[in-house]
Amino acid sequence: ESSNRARLLAANRAAGEFFVERLATPDADPGRRFLGERGFDRAAAAHFGVGYAPKSWDELTKHLRGRGFTNEEMAAAGLVSTGDRGNYDRFRGRVVWPIRDLTGETVGFGARRLFDDDKGPKYLNTPETPIYHKSQVLYGLDLAKRDMSKARQVVVVEGYTDVMACHLAGITTAVATCGTSFGVDHIKILRRVLGDDTGLGEVIFTFDPDAAGQKAAVRAFAEEQRFAAQTYVATGPEGLDPCDLRLARGDEAVRGMIESKKPMFEFIIKQQLAAHDLDTVEGRVSALRAAAPVVAGIRDPSLRPGYARELARWLGIDLDEVSRAVQSAG
Ligand code: GTP
Ligand code: MN
Ligand code: MN
Ligand code: MN
Ligand code: MN
Repeated sequence: ESSNRARLLAANRAAGEFFVERLATPDADPGRRFLGERGFDRAAAAHFGVGYAPKSWDELTKHLRGRGFTNEEMAAAGLVSTGDRGNYDRFRGRVVWPIRDLTGETVGFGARRLFDDDKGPKYLNTPETPIYHKSQVLYGLDLAKRDMSKARQVVVVEGYTDVMACHLAGITTAVATCGTSFGVDHIKILRRVLGDDTGLGEVIFTFDPDAAGQKAAVRAFAEEQRFAAQTYVATGPEGLDPCDLRLARGDEAVRGMIESKKPMFEFIIKQQLAAHDLDTVEGRVSALRAAAPVVAGIRDPSLRPGYARELARWLGIDLDEVSRAVQSAG
C-alpha cells in the first residue's frame, strides 16, 4: 500500500512538472491568456504551480510511460482514462492546478476548460483515488497553513482562482474546497492545523450569491455550532467573488471584503429576512416567523439573547414579541 502510494505521488509529481512545462509552449496560448485575463502573471502561476494540459489525447500518457510509469499506475492516479482505443489523458486543453496535501505532496489536480463549447464540465478534478479524496482536501492548504496557525484564521473561498487572488492580495490564509461543498472532514483538517483546545480561531466563508450548495454548507457548520461564535461570512460587493473583485477593484477591495465579514448567525438570519417585505406588517410578521427558529436554534446561551435583541431591531418589532416568537419556535 505505502509503496503504491509513493508511486502514485511520484506520478502526480511528474505530471505536475509536465503541466508546468507545457504552460510555456505555443499550444498553451489560451491557457496563458485565461490566466492573464484573471490578473495572474507568470510569477503568480509559478508560485501556485499552475500548468497547462495539452489538447492532444495522450501526450501525458506518453511522457509518463517514458518516465517508467505503468498504465495501471497512471490510471490509479486518475491521470489517464481507459477507452476502446487504449488509454488517453484525463485532462486535455485545460489550465491545471495541483492540489497538495499538508506536506506539500500533489495528491490530485483541478482543471478548467478554456472555451465554453469545450466538452466536459467547466472544472474537472482528479477522481477518487487511493491518495485523493475530494472531501478531505483543501486547495491552498500547503501555502496557507503557516499563516493560518499564526493568525488563527482561515478564509474559505469557492475556487482555485479565488485562492490565488486572495493570497496575492495579502489574504494568505485562504483555501478552497475542490469540486465539493464544505463538510465535516474539512472541519477535521482545520482542527489539525489550527488546534482545537481554544476553538478554531476565525473561520470566514465567502460565497457567490449563486452558490446554493455552499450556503447549505454554512448551515451544516451552524448545526455543529461548536465553533459558531467564531464563524463568519464575507460577501463581495455586487456578489463578486475574490478573483473578479480583485480584477475590478484591486487588492485593497479583496482585503476590505474579508474585513467586512459578518457573524454567521447574522448572515443566516438576514438571509431569512431578505425573503420578506419588511415595509409591511404582514411581511415583518412572516419574517419573524421565518427567523425565530434560527434564533431558537442557537445553542450557545450567551449568544441567543443578543440575537433576539438584534432581530427585534432589524424588524422594528418589540423585543417581548420577538422573545415570545423565539420561545414558541424552540
Ligand atoms: P470561474 O471563476 O470563471 O472559473 O467561474 P466561477 O467563479 O463562476 O466559478 P464557480 O464559483 O462556479 O466555481 C468555483 C469552484 O467550484 C471551482 O473552482 C470548482 O472547484 C467548483 N466548480 C465549478 N464548476 C464546476 C464543475 O463544473 N465541476 C466541478 N467538479 N467543480 C466545479
Ligand atoms: Mn484512502
Ligand atoms: Mn459561480
Ligand atoms: Mn465564483
Ligand atoms: Mn470566479
